[in-house]
Amino acid sequence: MDLYEYQARDMFESYGVPVLAGIVADTPQEARAAAEKLGGTVVVKAQVKTGGRGKAGGVKVAHSPAEAERAAEAILGLDIKGHTVRRLMVAAGARIAQEFYFSILLDRANRSYLSLASVEGGMDIEQLAVEKPEALARIEVDPLTGVDREKATEIARAAGFPEDLFEKVLPVIERLWWVYRDEDATLVEVNPLVLTESGQIIALDGKITLDDNAEFRHEKHKELAEAGDVDPLEAKAKESDLNYVKLDGEVGIIGNGAGLVMSTLDVVSYAGERHGGVRPANFLDIGGGASAEVMAAGLHVILSDPQVRSIFVNVFGGITACDAVANGIVGALERLGDEESKPLVVRLDGNNVEEGRRILAEANHPHVTVVDTMDDAADRAAELANA
Ligand SMILES: Nc1ncnc2c1ncn2[C@@H]1O[C@H](COP(=O)(O)OP(=O)(O)OP(=O)(O)O)[C@@H](O)[C@H]1O
Ligand SMILES: [Mg+2]
Repeated sequence: MDLYEYQARDMFESYGVPVLAGIVADTPQEARAAAEKLGGTVVVKAQVKTGGRGKAGGVKVAHSPAEAERAAEAILGLDIKGHTVRRLMVAAGARIAQEFYFSILLDRANRSYLSLASVEGGMDIEQLAVEKPEALARIEVDPLTGVDREKATEIARAAGFPEDLFEKVLPVIERLWWVYRDEDATLVEVNPLVLTESGQIIALDGKITLDDNAEFRHEKHKELAEAGDVDPLEAKAKESDLNYVKLDGEVGIIGNGAGLVMSTLDVVSYAGERHGGVRPANFLDIGGGASAEVMAAGLHVILSDPQVRSIFVNVFGGITACDAVANGIVGALERLGDEESKPLVVRLDGNNVEEGRRILAEANHPHVTVVDTMDDAADRAAELANA
């Protein structure tokens, strides 16, 4: 789970990482009130779980409460890489002397942790890594020993932080490590970590990703998940225990098993190239059970996405045989009734496939097309989405 910047800010604060005052605002009036409370120059910042907010017009400096209100009006409702801004943080303005970059992340390939740091912060770190890789220090962090003063020194030195800042920077690096370790994070990133004109080190913008597998030992993380107005469809899917990820294409996808769903995304993307560039609208793994109930819950979620123009159900019958899946589909269609208004392409294979196909043929639902192979079914679904 990714945290919003304001949540990361609060978490940093609770670990003693220096941050600026920040107040959450959901309306221009609240932004104005927040600016009044903070006084002086403030920065109005879009709270969305994606990067590049500044470039997209989602970060604005305001010199008065009235200006903050106008900035909020401009930012609320903005679409930043597919994320609609519904919430802002009004932060105290800092006088920045220098911007740095610091992160700790899970390095899956090396089964270790990795710290990245640079004195060239503020900018897009992916861009820096490509254009000036030598400016980005990469220091492995042993998960067993973590970041102590010695490790923090190694990181700061490799990044080229000025020695006279070490006294202030090293404790911040150590504390950011505590956040990473104690919260079971997979990413803690500060960009920029700034040096202010008055000589303070402050985490000005934070990103934290928490490991969902560790949620069971963090009572508080559930609250963080609830606070974030996650995509309403994703929330609905979660209620039904479905593994759903919204994407921004037009072909809704239901499959059983993450591997099958992933390859379904691929074949639909390829097929989409022949049909007006349509793309998958989501990832939805209904897992092993394909009962009418689960199928109806899955279809319901996908049908609620207004971008969806056709649906591709791709199921490989294993322990749950194809006849059970077919009955699940027929039952789901009955349940949904008129709600099921979009063309459905079904491809079944595996255990008891003949019986499964017979059941679907007999039901003869006007919106359902049964196609035997995965490629042909993807092609048909893409074609229908483009019709
Ligand atoms: N409180 C603040 N006071 C002064 N300047 C700020 C403040 N917050 C942000 N800035 C300036 O705006 C820039 C962009 O802000 P920030 O890093 O929060 O957003 P971003 O990098 O565009 O977004 P993202 O991290 O999502 O890519 C910073 O590098 C900094 O120069
Ligand atoms: Mg940033």
